[in-house]
Amino acid sequence: MSTKVVNTIAIVSCVVFAVLMTLHLLPGSLTCDSKTSDDLQEAKARIKELTNELSKFKSLVDTGSQGELKSAQPNIQKKFSPGHENFQEDLGSGPLKLVREKGYAHDLVKLELDKLTDEELLMTMHSYVDNIDVLCRRKFRMGNLGDGGWEVCDDPDVRPRDPCIVYSFGINNDFSFDDDVATVYGCHVFSFDPSMTKMPEAINRSDKVHFHRIGLDGRTYVNAINWSLYTLQDIRKKLGHQGEVIDVIKMDIENSEWPAIPEMTESGAFDKVKQLFLEYHMEKTDRNFLLPKLKAIQLVEKAGFKKFYAHKNPECKFSVEGFPVVRTKCYELHYLKRWLPH
Ligand SMILES: *[C@@H]1O[C@H](CO)[C@@H](O)[C@H](O)[C@H]1NC(C)=O
Ligand SMILES: *[C@@H]1O[C@H](CO)[C@@H](O)[C@H](O)[C@H]1NC(C)=O
Repeated sequence: MSTKVVNTIAIVSCVVFAVLMTLHLLPGSLTCDSKTSDDLQEAKARIKELTNELSKFKSLVDTGSQGELKSAQPNIQKKFSPGHENFQEDLGSGPLKLVREKGYAHDLVKLELDKLTDEELLMTMHSYVDNIDVLCRRKFRMGNLGDGGWEVCDDPDVRPRDPCIVYSFGINNDFSFDDDVATVYGCHVFSFDPSMTKMPEAINRSDKVHFHRIGLDGRTYVNAINWSLYTLQDIRKKLGHQGEVIDVIKMDIENSEWPAIPEMTESGAFDKVKQLFLEYHMEKTDRNFLLPKLKAIQLVEKAGFKKFYAHKNPECKFSVEGFPVVRTKCYELHYLKRWLPH
């Protein structure tokens, strides 16, 4: 059969399916209660919209180029599949109703955070940090079980490959993650911690693990207790890694993530990073605390990072008024950015 005939058959089945679906005539939707006139109006509008889309697509099939057809295909598929945007939350009743209603767990990029109420900010923060958006098909834990270890995604497109670079911020005398990544993946791991004051300024722990007694922050300066803090951009410069891919950045830096993140996204130092492991610290529940934090997290999402694993650090158990299930102050989020050329 020619491509045109196949396409036409596909379109016709699409229309029939869409119409049946919209009218709730397919199995699975038969349990719906009787339709109100609003529902009917909505169904009619949807049919009209789909018909328009189809006739546009049909004329592309007839007269468009292969290229045009190819670029229209994903769009039309999205329109016809009852996807995420058509997902209707079933709020139910009982203690979880409020969280379902007010807490946005996904698509943070689309939210106008300034417009959220205090309650929505709180519910959203604690929903977002508890959920993932993409699947990593295989991951390996590097470092200790419990505090100190992190899960590296081993899917082929984001896997660290020798020669690779890993930045590990916040060591607190536990090099278990750093040592494992160096051994297992053969990466050069740069380990940073300004609080380990007994260590020399710089020392090679092994051939592959390089310690620097400096920290990450939103600006480069020396703080009141004589810690040398740098922006990510300046660390890249200092180590001669400007413009290089950094396979994994791990940060557990006790609230300094909040000033560091905006600088990392604005400076572009974050662009060539495949995996990002971030421990978010959230000591408080008020608007003044939450709003800038969610804005920082939104920047991480805007930079293209998607959550593939979320873990609550049990060390920092926390109770949040109004949130009906167990919380912590420390969430270890694991993000990846797909399709980055190595
Ligand atoms: C660590 O090793 C690297 C080579 O991998 C070398 O360039 C650097 O000077 C060494 N640093 C220290 C502090 O010994
Ligand atoms: C501050 O740190 C620098 C470099 O790490 C060091 O040379 C200096 O002696 C320190 N100053 C004080 C007062 O500890």
